[in-house]
Amino acid sequence: MEIRKYQFQIHGDERGQLVALEEMKDIPFEIKRVYYMYDTIEGVRRGFHAHKCLEQILICIHGSCKILMDDGNEKVEVPLDKPYEGLYISNAIWREMFDFSPDAVLMVLASEYYDEADYIRDYNEFLKYIGKEN
Ligand code: TYD
Repeated sequence: MEIRKYQFQIHGDERGQLVALEEMKDIPFEIKRVYYMYDTIEGVRRGFHAHKCLEQILICIHGSCKILMDDGNEKVEVPLDKPYEGLYISNAIWREMFDFSPDAVLMVLASEYYDEADYIRDYNEFLKYIGKEN
Protein backbone atom coordinates (compact mmCIF):
# COMPACT_ATOMS: atom_id res chain seq x y z
CA MET A 1 0.00 0.00 0.00
CA GLU A 2 1.29 3.41 -0.87
CA ILE A 3 1.50 5.73 2.15
CA ARG A 4 1.16 9.34 1.06
CA LYS A 5 2.45 11.81 3.62
CA TYR A 6 2.50 15.53 2.88
CA GLN A 7 5.12 17.78 4.45
CA PHE A 8 3.57 21.23 4.65
CA GLN A 9 5.56 24.40 4.40
CA ILE A 10 6.32 25.99 7.76
CA HIS A 11 6.33 29.78 7.85
CA GLY A 12 8.50 30.00 10.93
CA ASP A 13 10.23 33.06 12.29
CA GLU A 14 11.44 34.34 15.65
CA ARG A 15 7.79 34.56 16.82
CA GLY A 16 7.03 30.90 16.23
CA GLN A 17 5.57 28.62 13.56
CA LEU A 18 2.66 28.92 11.17
CA VAL A 19 1.30 26.40 8.66
CA ALA A 20 -1.22 27.44 5.98
CA LEU A 21 -3.21 24.91 3.97
CA GLU A 22 -4.99 25.81 0.74
CA GLU A 23 -7.29 23.49 -1.17
CA MET A 24 -6.01 22.23 -4.54
CA LYS A 25 -2.55 23.51 -3.61
CA ASP A 26 -1.26 22.06 -0.33
CA ILE A 27 -4.31 19.77 -0.11
CA PRO A 28 -5.05 17.72 -3.25
CA PHE A 29 -8.83 18.20 -3.11
CA GLU A 30 -11.50 20.79 -2.36
CA ILE A 31 -12.04 20.92 1.39
CA LYS A 32 -15.73 20.64 2.22
CA ARG A 33 -15.35 19.73 5.89
CA VAL A 34 -12.91 20.02 8.77
CA TYR A 35 -13.26 18.12 12.04
CA TYR A 36 -10.97 17.34 14.91
CA MET A 37 -10.71 15.01 17.85
CA TYR A 38 -9.29 16.00 21.23
CA ASP A 39 -9.54 14.88 24.87
CA THR A 40 -9.46 11.32 23.55
CA ILE A 41 -9.56 8.97 26.52
CA GLU A 42 -6.38 6.94 27.09
CA GLY A 43 -6.46 3.54 25.41
CA VAL A 44 -9.37 4.42 23.13
CA ARG A 45 -9.32 3.12 19.59
CA ARG A 46 -11.73 4.75 17.14
CA GLY A 47 -12.53 4.86 13.48
CA PHE A 48 -13.26 1.27 12.47
CA HIS A 49 -14.70 2.21 9.10
CA ALA A 50 -13.95 2.88 5.45
CA HIS A 51 -15.56 5.30 3.02
CA LYS A 52 -17.00 4.73 -0.43
CA CYS A 53 -16.26 8.17 -1.78
CA LEU A 54 -14.15 10.41 0.43
CA GLU A 55 -10.62 11.72 0.49
CA GLN A 56 -9.09 12.90 3.72
CA ILE A 57 -5.89 14.39 5.09
CA LEU A 58 -5.19 13.70 8.76
CA ILE A 59 -2.95 16.05 10.69
CA CYS A 60 -2.05 15.54 14.33
CA ILE A 61 -1.68 19.25 15.06
CA HIS A 62 -0.77 18.65 18.72
CA GLY A 63 0.50 15.58 20.57
CA SER A 64 0.64 12.23 18.84
CA CYS A 65 -1.46 9.30 17.70
CA LYS A 66 -1.26 6.37 15.31
CA ILE A 67 -3.36 5.47 12.29
CA LEU A 68 -3.94 1.95 11.05
CA MET A 69 -4.59 1.82 7.31
CA ASP A 70 -5.88 -1.41 5.81
CA ASP A 71 -6.59 -1.85 2.09
CA GLY A 72 -7.81 -5.42 2.56
CA ASN A 73 -4.44 -6.88 1.59
CA GLU A 74 -2.05 -5.08 3.86
CA LYS A 75 -2.25 -3.27 7.22
CA VAL A 76 0.11 -0.39 7.91
CA GLU A 77 0.47 1.60 11.13
CA VAL A 78 1.45 5.20 10.59
CA PRO A 79 2.56 7.41 13.51
CA LEU A 80 1.45 11.03 13.36
CA ASP A 81 3.19 13.50 15.64
CA LYS A 82 4.06 16.57 13.59
CA PRO A 83 1.76 19.57 13.08
CA TYR A 84 3.28 20.12 9.63
CA GLU A 85 2.69 16.59 8.33
CA GLY A 86 -0.49 15.26 6.71
CA LEU A 87 -1.48 11.67 6.00
CA TYR A 88 -3.61 11.17 2.91
CA ILE A 89 -6.33 8.50 3.07
CA SER A 90 -8.39 7.73 -0.01
CA ASN A 91 -11.71 5.93 -0.17
CA ALA A 92 -11.89 2.15 0.34
CA ILE A 93 -9.30 2.13 3.13
CA TRP A 94 -10.28 0.71 6.49
CA ARG A 95 -8.90 3.02 9.20
CA GLU A 96 -8.47 2.93 12.95
CA MET A 97 -7.00 5.65 15.15
CA PHE A 98 -5.26 4.76 18.41
CA ASP A 99 -2.43 5.48 20.87
CA PHE A 100 -3.61 9.07 21.36
CA SER A 101 -1.42 11.05 23.73
CA PRO A 102 -3.52 12.94 26.34
CA ASP A 103 -2.78 16.24 24.56
CA ALA A 104 -3.46 14.92 21.04
CA VAL A 105 -5.52 16.97 18.62
CA LEU A 106 -6.18 15.08 15.41
CA MET A 107 -7.53 17.32 12.67
CA VAL A 108 -9.08 15.92 9.51
CA LEU A 109 -9.67 17.73 6.24
CA ALA A 110 -12.31 16.01 4.13
CA SER A 111 -13.38 16.27 0.49
CA GLU A 112 -17.10 15.74 1.18
CA TYR A 113 -19.74 16.76 3.68
CA TYR A 114 -20.58 14.32 6.44
CA ASP A 115 -22.78 11.54 5.06
CA GLU A 116 -23.45 8.45 7.13
CA ALA A 117 -24.46 6.61 3.93
CA ASP A 118 -20.86 6.88 2.72
CA TYR A 119 -19.57 4.87 5.70
CA ILE A 120 -18.76 1.15 5.67
CA ARG A 121 -18.69 0.26 9.35
CA ASP A 122 -18.60 -3.52 9.07
CA TYR A 123 -15.23 -5.12 8.24
CA ASN A 124 -16.74 -8.02 6.27
CA GLU A 125 -18.83 -5.55 4.30
CA PHE A 126 -15.63 -3.63 3.59
CA LEU A 127 -13.96 -6.78 2.24
CA LYS A 128 -17.02 -7.41 0.06
CA TYR A 129 -16.99 -3.80 -1.14
CA ILE A 130 -13.40 -4.07 -2.36
CA GLY A 131 -14.15 -7.42 -3.95
CA LYS A 132 -12.36 -9.51 -1.39
CA GLU A 133 -14.83 -11.93 0.14
CA ASN A 134 -13.53 -13.83 3.15
P1 TYD B 1 -17.67 8.61 14.58
O1 TYD B 1 -17.88 8.32 13.14
O2 TYD B 1 -18.18 7.62 15.58
O3 TYD B 1 -16.16 8.90 14.86
P2 TYD B 1 -14.89 7.92 14.60
O4 TYD B 1 -14.99 7.46 13.20
O5 TYD B 1 -13.70 8.78 14.83
O6 TYD B 1 -14.96 6.81 15.58
O7 TYD B 1 -18.31 10.02 14.87
C1 TYD B 1 -18.67 10.44 16.18
C2 TYD B 1 -19.94 11.29 16.10
O8 TYD B 1 -19.70 12.50 15.41
C3 TYD B 1 -21.07 10.59 15.39
O9 TYD B 1 -22.26 10.85 16.11
C4 TYD B 1 -21.15 11.27 14.05
C5 TYD B 1 -20.61 12.66 14.34
N1 TYD B 1 -19.89 13.28 13.20
C6 TYD B 1 -20.48 14.36 12.56
O10 TYD B 1 -21.58 14.82 12.90
N2 TYD B 1 -19.80 14.94 11.53
C7 TYD B 1 -18.58 14.48 11.12
O11 TYD B 1 -18.01 15.05 10.17
C8 TYD B 1 -18.00 13.35 11.79
C9 TYD B 1 -16.66 12.81 11.36
C10 TYD B 1 -18.70 12.79 12.82
